[in-house]
Amino acid sequence: MNSNIQKSIFMKRVLSILSATAIATAAFAHPEAGKIIRISTDNTDLILKVGDNGRLYQTYLGPKLLNADDAAGLDWAQYAASDGSVSKRGWEAYSTSGNEDFFEPALGVTHADGNPTTYLYYVDSCETPAEGGVQTNIRLRDDKYPFDVTLHYVAYPKENVIKTWSEIKHQEKKPVTLSSFASAMLYFNEMSYYLTEFSSDWAKEAQMSSQQLQFGKKVIDTKLGSRAAMHTHPFFEIGLNGPVKENSGEVLMGTLGWTGNFRFTFEVDNVGNLRVIPGINPYASNYELKADEVFTTPEFIFTLSYDGSGQGSRNLHDWARKYSLKDGDGSRLTLLNNWENTAFDFDQDILAELMKEAKHLGVDMFLLDDGWFGNKYPRKDDHAGLGDWEVTHDKLPGGIAALVKSANDADVKFGIWIEPEMVNPKSELYEKHPDWVIEQPNRDTYYYRNQLVLDMSNPKVQDYVFDVVDNILTENPEVAYFKWDCNSPITNIYSPYNKDKQGQLYIDHVRGIYNVLKRIKAKYPDVPMMLCSGGGARCDYEALKYFTEFWCSDNTDPVERVYIQWGFSQFFPAKAMAAHVTSWNKNTSVKFRTDVASMCKLGFDIGLKELNADELAYCQQAIANWKHLEPAIMDGEQYRLVSPYESNHAAVEYVDKSKNMGVLFAYNLSPRYKEKLQRVKLQGLDPSKKYRVTEINLMPGTKSKFAQNNKIFSGDYLMKVGLDVFSFAHNTSMVIEISAQ
Ligand code: GLA
Repeated sequence: MNSNIQKSIFMKRVLSILSATAIATAAFAHPEAGKIIRISTDNTDLILKVGDNGRLYQTYLGPKLLNADDAAGLDWAQYAASDGSVSKRGWEAYSTSGNEDFFEPALGVTHADGNPTTYLYYVDSCETPAEGGVQTNIRLRDDKYPFDVTLHYVAYPKENVIKTWSEIKHQEKKPVTLSSFASAMLYFNEMSYYLTEFSSDWAKEAQMSSQQLQFGKKVIDTKLGSRAAMHTHPFFEIGLNGPVKENSGEVLMGTLGWTGNFRFTFEVDNVGNLRVIPGINPYASNYELKADEVFTTPEFIFTLSYDGSGQGSRNLHDWARKYSLKDGDGSRLTLLNNWENTAFDFDQDILAELMKEAKHLGVDMFLLDDGWFGNKYPRKDDHAGLGDWEVTHDKLPGGIAALVKSANDADVKFGIWIEPEMVNPKSELYEKHPDWVIEQPNRDTYYYRNQLVLDMSNPKVQDYVFDVVDNILTENPEVAYFKWDCNSPITNIYSPYNKDKQGQLYIDHVRGIYNVLKRIKAKYPDVPMMLCSGGGARCDYEALKYFTEFWCSDNTDPVERVYIQWGFSQFFPAKAMAAHVTSWNKNTSVKFRTDVASMCKLGFDIGLKELNADELAYCQQAIANWKHLEPAIMDGEQYRLVSPYESNHAAVEYVDKSKNMGVLFAYNLSPRYKEKLQRVKLQGLDPSKKYRVTEINLMPGTKSKFAQNNKIFSGDYLMKVGLDVFSFAHNTSMVIEISAQ
């Protein structure tokens, strides 16, 4: 047969198959086929459509469409080869294992009868009002198994943020096994995709790096259990059609609210489309789901910015302060902490002195760190005592009550450090309850920081952890603040409590933590708490429903902090990020260290004796300035103007919501000899207003070298012409107050 005849026979076959498909489709079209579900913010549309086959597909995710007709006209079918010759394959909104998609699914299920496939069909959907936005719930159901998934989306119009999660349940006769359980699935059809990820380690948090995503999968995940974000954080950025830029270009910014193992999968498929699959990491977690048990995934929160990551961050900052962060619209306490100053080496008199120092410095609170507890095994260092949350009598004979009294005498508030999910084997708790600890029954134990993790899946352990806070607050209602630490990953994973459900421990452990945090928040809604995990290894929006702020890093070297804070600020408002002035990197000035910490929730962890008179006066003034500028720094808009990743300098600006008050922080990190100094153009001001620019945070006795000091300019000028705030001296800083006239 010659090749032309072959071709014509083939075409005839194709045509007859296509028309048969069309007839079949017409005959069996799903009653809801063509239904459109539009999840919209003021700027973004996520459009889903019920296909002819009754399954739910994403037809669009991008800038908001102006015409409803356009939204309705989008096709659900995508083609597996770009010329359409292979087969139709939609972007299923929540793709499942065993279907015709062939790429990474959101959900992997083995049904009670062993069948590993799931096909979800649209049932119904509804919209309900939600705080700050609109919630859309979409029910899906398998046609062969009593197996249901409900997709939830909350769209926050003004902040241009969408929050999404899923619920999985069934009524099969026996449990089903879930092998993956993503929160959501998003697709993009662009020419290129660039991932910015945030890798981490102790003292090296939120390090940003970018790469182009090519065919195949890139996975970012963590398997640490607790202290879960030690090596990478639960957020990412994707630049569409180019690397992420600060002020231009389309960027997806996503973050998962989960304080345990998470996984982000980014897969570019055979036709160059990208799918993004955020969720709990199913690592060592095959989940046996019983009939009628609801598996609720964590929330995935995302924004699509069309003006770069700067706008995306501002979207998220606003959303967080309004709808997510604990006491997001409240003020924050400045503080003096003692960890870097005394470590474990203190007594009642030393602490009473430090409280006076806190007052003298001008902060609101003294925060007592690690080392105050344990009697049979006193907490002299990190080898013993965790679990025994009773004051060490020898060290602090008057107990917490005496400390609270000293704080009252000094006229500051009193806060205290705890690490209640952990235990040292050298503790009375471990002696009494070895079965409360995650530990292998038949293998050698691996210790991280000489400690083990309590089994939070055990309700008795949850009660005990709740009691740690409850007892302190019941006995000492004036305790004003907690720093809640978590220094160990889960090692030796095994639950003595839930022996038959080892595959669920990583998940049930995190749920147990939330149970406790919920109870604490319900009973003590107004007590602020700092989330800490050996630095910044816990930094997610689910935990932050219960915490007013998190500790970004034990690394308080101001040079490093410029980068670390730059990284975290992509996703968190300054209000959620605690930063302290310490003696890390003493080669830098106290001014430089304080200016860097002033960009976040300001605190100190330094002995006043280390400061000379000028430095002390400087700090006192800087605290007063910070309090005055709180409406801009804590509650305003942040503009990252000059990136330390792209230059030898850095500059960050904050402007209050009324555009009347702002502050510019400018840093000279490692300028080259006679390099060209960039003039810094401000953002976010009112072009028609006049602003005075004044250098503040000056060391006593020094004169400002700011060329435009005390001058008045229009907002237009400041945003188009800019200010000369950089210089050549390494590791120096300049802080400029911008005040409307
Ligand atoms: C962790 C925290 C520190 C400090 C110590 C105390 O490392 O990150 O800030 O509280 O624990 O042991």
